[in-house]
Amino acid sequence: MAHKMVACPLLWIPATAGFVTLMLFSLVHAEICPLSCTCKPLGEMKGWLVDCSSKGLKEVPDLPVSTRKLYLQNNSMTTVRTGAFDNLHNLEEMNVSDNPWNCDCDILYLKFWLQDFSESSIANVICATPASNERKPLSQLTGNELDNCWKSLPIKCLNFFWRDLALITFAVVVLILTSCALRFSKRLAYQVTTRDYYSAAPLLRKHNLENYMSQ
Ligand SMILES: *[C@@H]1O[C@H](CO)[C@@H](O)[C@H](O)[C@H]1NC(C)=O
Ligand SMILES: *[C@@H]1O[C@H](CO)[C@@H](O)[C@H](O)[C@H]1NC(C)=O
Repeated sequence: MAHKMVACPLLWIPATAGFVTLMLFSLVHAEICPLSCTCKPLGEMKGWLVDCSSKGLKEVPDLPVSTRKLYLQNNSMTTVRTGAFDNLHNLEEMNVSDNPWNCDCDILYLKFWLQDFSESSIANVICATPASNERKPLSQLTGNELDNCWKSLPIKCLNFFWRDLALITFAVVVLILTSCALRFSKRLAYQVTTRDYYSAAPLLRKHNLENYMSQ
């Protein structure tokens, strides 16, 4: 009993230490400067100037949450993953120009994000690919020029339809087979019991006869 009471707090120590370390790590991690960038504190304003320009980056690195100014210009980024800027609540200035943006459906996150952010941030963002959108400003791309996005939607819906249809058909077939199997097994059980009765009958009769004879 006493042993158990000692063991419990002893177990709690590494667990708590692990938890605290994890919390600290995630806090620090959220403020860590990306490897290929340079970060400068912005004095009294709190927050960072994060300069990732001209680094040959292919994608947006994990950014400190208190980034205030973000320079990503002159890199090799073709797209921005959805949500990449969502936790940067203190952002005041950003530059993503001079990147070979691939303006297909996946660029919509960047387009909408920059439009919400500021007119100047989207001003000199130019598409490089696909050929149909080459050198077009991202701000001027319309639904027509990104038409693959709307075309791919009905195809996805149709896929869901066929999958659902297949699932429903499968369920119905299973139901029918189960009910058939149930009915068949019931009939089998009935046959077995009746057959047992008849096959036991002569024995019964014989037994009765023997009883009768012995009396
Ligand atoms: C763009 O980045 C490359 C290296 O990736 C560098 O050589 C070049 O000078 C940069 N251009 C500008 C205008 O900063
Ligand atoms: C972004 O950077 C480019 C190239 O360094 C520069 O020409 C442009 O004016 C900058 N845009 C903004 C909005 O600061």
